[in-house]
Amino acid sequence: MDGLISLCNEIKGCKKCDLHLSRKTAVCGIGDRTAEVMIVGEAPGSNEDQTGVPFVGRSGKLLDKMLIEANLPRSRVYITNAVRCRPKIGRTPKITEIRKCTPFLSKEIETVGPVLIIPMGNSALKSIGIILKMNFGRISEAWKSIYHVNGMFILPQFHPAAILRNPKLFHIMKDRFELIRSFRDDIKNGKSMDYLGEKYGIIKI
Ligand code: URA
Repeated sequence: MDGLISLCNEIKGCKKCDLHLSRKTAVCGIGDRTAEVMIVGEAPGSNEDQTGVPFVGRSGKLLDKMLIEANLPRSRVYITNAVRCRPKIGRTPKITEIRKCTPFLSKEIETVGPVLIIPMGNSALKSIGIILKMNFGRISEAWKSIYHVNGMFILPQFHPAAILRNPKLFHIMKDRFELIRSFRDDIKNGKSMDYLGEKYGIIKI
């Protein structure tokens, strides 16, 4: 069976934390199974809990807009979450919940093999940090950097829900997605690591 299908079956049946008690459905990753770009969100909200599809609510609409700006329609990326079941209204996932869910994200990264990972918000950043055994700190600082770790580029980004709460952050998100567009073009055009490092100030780990 396809690795991502069996992983999704595992996610749907997962009872490793109490979030399974209140979920309608667990939400699996979706998109291009060989995508160069992987987007990682926090956890399903109410629309995602109902539909089983990531980013279909208000945050999802904003994300779709940004992806189009970056010339990256949904069909060309893989979209997933740090946590697969909806936490109670409005609360962020606990670190214990993130830890228990992180092996699913790890398996997705291994299977899809993205070149660029965009963790959106603190929960996604923590989950990627657990996988790569490093501490990226808080998104409020980390969004300014591009990291090169284990052959992948990590480009942290504010979560769309944070932008909806604080529209002053909107231009930051828009600029970052424009940068993602040019960064991808440079990678596609075979630019060297030296060139990328100089142009984007990449932090190599
Ligand atoms: N917010 C997220 O982080 N993930 C979703 O899937 C939906 C909203």
